[in-house]
Amino acid sequence: MLARPRRNRQNKGLRNLVRENALTPHDFIFPIFIVDGKKQKQAIPALPGQFRYSIDELLKVCKEVHELGIPGVVLFPKIDDKLKDRNASEAVNKTGLVPRAVRAIKKEFPDLVVFTDIALDPFSSEGHDGLVKNGEILNDETLAVLSAMAVVHAEAGADFVAPSDMMDGRVRNIRQTLDKNYFKNVGILSYTAKYASSFYGPFRSALDSTPRAGDKKTYQMDPANSREALRELKLDIAEGADIVMVKPALPYLDIIHLFKQHSTLPIAAYNVSGEYAMIKAAGEKAWIDEKLARDESLLSIKRAGADIIFSYFALEFAKDYQKK
Ligand code: PBG
Repeated sequence: MLARPRRNRQNKGLRNLVRENALTPHDFIFPIFIVDGKKQKQAIPALPGQFRYSIDELLKVCKEVHELGIPGVVLFPKIDDKLKDRNASEAVNKTGLVPRAVRAIKKEFPDLVVFTDIALDPFSSEGHDGLVKNGEILNDETLAVLSAMAVVHAEAGADFVAPSDMMDGRVRNIRQTLDKNYFKNVGILSYTAKYASSFYGPFRSALDSTPRAGDKKTYQMDPANSREALRELKLDIAEGADIVMVKPALPYLDIIHLFKQHSTLPIAAYNVSGEYAMIKAAGEKAWIDEKLARDESLLSIKRAGADIIFSYFALEFAKDYQKK
């Protein structure tokens, strides 16, 4: 036999030499849920091991994240129902939870890269990413609020804003607004191909942000489509995105691969709440080896082409990595 692929798998040393992909803590961004108050570390039932942190507790987590070599965090606020309204006005409050959290992090850890989420759902009484009028999710009216929100986050010190709302033209609008306000070095990570997915369930329970009526199918993408993702990619590149994202990750590895072939920008992928919860749940039942399933899943996202992985597993992955 001329070709014996097994020769290269004979022992650990050889396997280490021919391995094509590897994960390190540098590959990750850690998503963190935040809440108002002090000394808060609230468990999230659908996301075992994840918590909503008040800012004082958030800083302890950021210290760990930083020391373990994870380059960045992205923040998601749980907003009190009393502060939610139809206009999502709390989203542009300069002294709101997100800007306060960003300021606190950047003061203690100036070189931890802080990403903020740009979308209205945590702040809207309607639970939608955009403004709602007569049941319609308004596009152009929403852009002004998203851009104002981006400026508030930039003023607080955010390194990157990450629009996750899927409104048309948001990257251009945010870029122009940031530039006009002298934030030319604040980057945009665009949720370029964000699908209308069932895998966001645990996240929405964590923020209590499930839409009051309807679903997100008029703005998030149809899971059946991949050419349409390329259309979104071309637009985001033209509009000035610095990093493009595919979300969710595991059911959309083909889209990550496609992006890698069609763009020279860094590709991010979001290993979303439902993907995390499934592995945790099966692990708790000892139906799978949780850590092996975790590492195999994360590696598949990298192999598909992701340069950056947003994952709730980031912290535990990094802890295990440092132990090895
Ligand atoms: C909303 C937003 C969602 C997630 C991140 N930003 C949920 C949604 O679109 O309903 C989901 C993340 C996850 O499931 O982990 N702007």
